[in-house]
Amino acid sequence: MNIRWIAVLSFSALMTSPTLYAEGSDQEAMAAAGAAVFHQCEACHTLDPAKNGFGPDLHGVVGREAGTVPRFAYSDALKNSGLTWSEENLRKWVADNEALVPGTRMRHVSVTDPVEQDYLIAFLKSLN
Ligand code: HEC
Repeated sequence: MNIRWIAVLSFSALMTSPTLYAEGSDQEAMAAAGAAVFHQCEACHTLDPAKNGFGPDLHGVVGREAGTVPRFAYSDALKNSGLTWSEENLRKWVADNEALVPGTRMRHVSVTDPVEQDYLIAFLKSLN
C-alpha cells in the first residue's frame, strides 16, 4: 500500500458516511466522463428536452420502450423492434446499432469499450 492510499483511507474514515459519499461521487464522475463520450452523439441528439434533433430526445431513455418519443419519425425497423432500452440493449446499440436493429435510420456507431459504455449509460441515466 503506498502513501497516497493511506491518505485516502484515513480521509474516508473521517467522513460520517464514507460509502454513500464514495457512491455519490462515483456516479457523478461516471456521468461526467459519459458526457465526453456523448459528444459523438450530440450532433444528432440534442440535450434540449423541448425538441427533437435529427435523432430523438434521449431524456428518460433508460428503461423506455424503443421508438416511442412523440412526434419523432422513427424508422419502421426501430418502431417495430419490440425493444426496451435496458442497459444491456443500450450496450448492444452503441456497440453496433445496425446489428441490433437492421434497417435503423441511425448512422452506424461503434462504442465497444465496456468502460466507455458504462460512462455513457451513467450519463444517459443522469438525464432521466
Ligand atoms: C448521425 C446522427 C446520429 C448520431 C451520431 C447518433 N444517433 Fe442515435 N439516433 C439517430 C436517429 C436518426 C435515431 C432514430 C433511428 C430510427 O428511427 O431507426 C436514433 C435513435 C437512438 C436511440 C433510440 C431512441 C428511442 O427513442 O428509441 C438511442 C438510444 C440512441 N439513438 C443513442 C445514441 C447514442 C448513445 C449515440 C452516440 C454514441 C447516438 N445515438 C448517435 C441519430 C443519431
